Amino acid sequence: MRSELLQMLLDHQGNFVSGEAISQHLGCSRTAVWKHIEELRKAGYKLEAAPRKGYRIIHQPNLLTENEIKAGLKTNYIGKHVVYEKSVSSTQEIAHRLAREKVAEGTIVVADEQVGGKGRLGRAWFSPIGTGIWMSMILKPKIPPQRAPQLTLLAAVAVIRGIHAATGLHCDIKWPNDILLKGKKLVGILTEMQADPDQIHSVIIGIGINVNQKNFPDEIKEIATSLSLEKGEDVNRALVMQSIMAEFEQLYELFLKDGFLPIKQMWEAHATTIGRRITARTVSGAIEGFAKGITEDGVLLLEDDFGTIHKIYSADIDF
Ligand code: BTN
Repeated sequence: MRSELLQMLLDHQGNFVSGEAISQHLGCSRTAVWKHIEELRKAGYKLEAAPRKGYRIIHQPNLLTENEIKAGLKTNYIGKHVVYEKSVSSTQEIAHRLAREKVAEGTIVVADEQVGGKGRLGRAWFSPIGTGIWMSMILKPKIPPQRAPQLTLLAAVAVIRGIHAATGLHCDIKWPNDILLKGKKLVGILTEMQADPDQIHSVIIGIGINVNQKNFPDEIKEIATSLSLEKGEDVNRALVMQSIMAEFEQLYELFLKDGFLPIKQMWEAHATTIGRRITARTVSGAIEGFAKGITEDGVLLLEDDFGTIHKIYSADIDF
């Protein structure tokens, strides 16, 4: 009910909405409306109340709780069930537990802070409080487990499109699934799965987005950036998240209906790695060549100067 009230106030963009209209819309008493308004105030909203005019929003705090995420969300199932926590070890861990408890497809776990944020290849993911979007999405696609990596590529395209729709910023993908803004890392994606050899139970897509950080620890300050550093102002995290979820749902529907090919094409169009000369530093040495594209499994195809095509499964890429 509170997210509906919030939605109504936000839809009026700072104009007054009468208490009568709110109570009719929500189907509750004027006293109940007043109580919800007080709850919003406690959460950090500045709301003006004027006799005979009603209520209006003056200031919206940059929160990521269930109310903010649901107010204005334009999806059918992604993000319809939100689990918000202030501080967690990792949203991936909570999502794994919920997935085992058989929550609905599209359930999102989001936290204001992660103290044990997980990156790829066993690395840590810096997730300070109140600044970023640290979220995990639970999916239950009826596809063979070998196709699960395709969902990481789909998520990368959804994130790029969602960020563009919400902020106007253009990002690129660096293979395998880093999202860069002006050459610096903005977003990391970590896909994990609960599956039998021939059947997926759930896929958990963890997405970490640097939104309002103004600085980073020394180890990553040269290579990381945030949306606000590029925009020069704070960015509303809930809007970015809603936009990404809407893009994700559209692409996911397309993927389930038409397969991976359209997603692969979109991914390649956003990937800076593809169509240029690169060096892939693998565990068994460096290979230089021309990045031709990716396979159906997201494996990078690299043509060396002798015309041999190498399949790159894991590497750091230099341009
Ligand atoms: C990478 O190494 O690039 C992937 C980083 C993924 C980070 C996100 S933040 C939300 C989710 N929870 C985690 O612990 N990790 C992922």
